[in-house]
Amino acid sequence: MNMSNKARNIKGTLLLGNDRPSIIMAASILQNGGLVAFPTETVYGLGASALDDRALEKVFIAKGRPADNPLIVHIASVRELETVAINIPNQAYILAESFWPGPLSLVLERAPGVSPMVSAGLKTVAVRMPDRPEALSLIREAGLPVAAPSANISGSPSPTTYRHVIDDLAGKIDAVIMSAPCAIGVESTVLDLTGSSPVILRPGGLSKEKLELALGLQVALSVKSHASPAPSSPGMKYRHYKPCAPLLLVTGSPSGRKKLLRELAAYYGKKGKKVAFLNFDLNKYSDQAGDVDAIAAKLYSSLRCFDSRGYDLILAEETDLTGLGLAVMNRLTRAATRVVKVLD
Ligand code: TXA
Ligand code: MG
Repeated sequence: MNMSNKARNIKGTLLLGNDRPSIIMAASILQNGGLVAFPTETVYGLGASALDDRALEKVFIAKGRPADNPLIVHIASVRELETVAINIPNQAYILAESFWPGPLSLVLERAPGVSPMVSAGLKTVAVRMPDRPEALSLIREAGLPVAAPSANISGSPSPTTYRHVIDDLAGKIDAVIMSAPCAIGVESTVLDLTGSSPVILRPGGLSKEKLELALGLQVALSVKSHASPAPSSPGMKYRHYKPCAPLLLVTGSPSGRKKLLRELAAYYGKKGKKVAFLNFDLNKYSDQAGDVDAIAAKLYSSLRCFDSRGYDLILAEETDLTGLGLAVMNRLTRAATRVVKVLD
């Protein structure tokens, strides 16, 4: 991006490129307590200094995020882990070595230097090292741990392109780094390492199988990740995104659910309804299990697109629960108006 482009803005939000001068400018905004949206390999994040309470407060205001939902702190090297967390178990180092930079957030004991506001008052902190060059250079250049929730308005799908960020947050944040879409498309896996054994609080971009292989043990999925009076991952208790059109999630045997999906599509099609197909192809018989990475990559952008195009009904098909399928099914179940199980 050349110098004249640097002044481009929408409603006062600077549109930055991903070149070095732009990253330097973005870093200085963070150092001065401002908010910068930046790409990661999972979704776009809304960055603020994790050491600056006023900046953190602005994040909650810009997103309309409940104050008791903590933020993930982003770092650019394993060394920095010790500046944000204390009493770090060996498992954290094993996982960092295997998967960082990458889509894994580790919940650890919070270091005193990190603002309690990051953690919404919890004694713990979630930390990750993102796998995108722009994100890593931004954190390094700012010389700060960067707190970053997904860069969307609370309750809308996470953004996987800079346009999604602009749609939600133009005029509410200082700048956005414009770069390629996020490759993974679902948020990081949040793993709690503060208990007697590791627990997945949110399934995400790193699969349970890979975690288990690296740790050499079975990893539990938090039952609290759904409905609980005191969820261990506070974000899981909030109302999740529901598309404007009703979303029917069809589960059951691959042949049975495909048959029902065909019938539903034909029935509503005849009635003149605009029907969207989320994660399957009616003409293909495959149960999509192998395509789950591709489904994850497109999930949020498809939902945003269906909303903007005024569909009457969204049909979705169950995916395999292996790999990223666990995260996809977690998001689909939350977005669904109804889950229909085919018995055959
Ligand atoms: O991939 C991602 O994780 C993206 C990118 C930007 O890094 N970030 C993201 O942040 O998804 P957010 O704020 O949308 O989701 C953070 C999740 C929430 O469910 C929150 O409750 C949980 O992580 N979380 C954060 N800190 C926690 C903590 N100390 N203990 C338990 N859960 C925590
Ligand atoms: Mg989010």
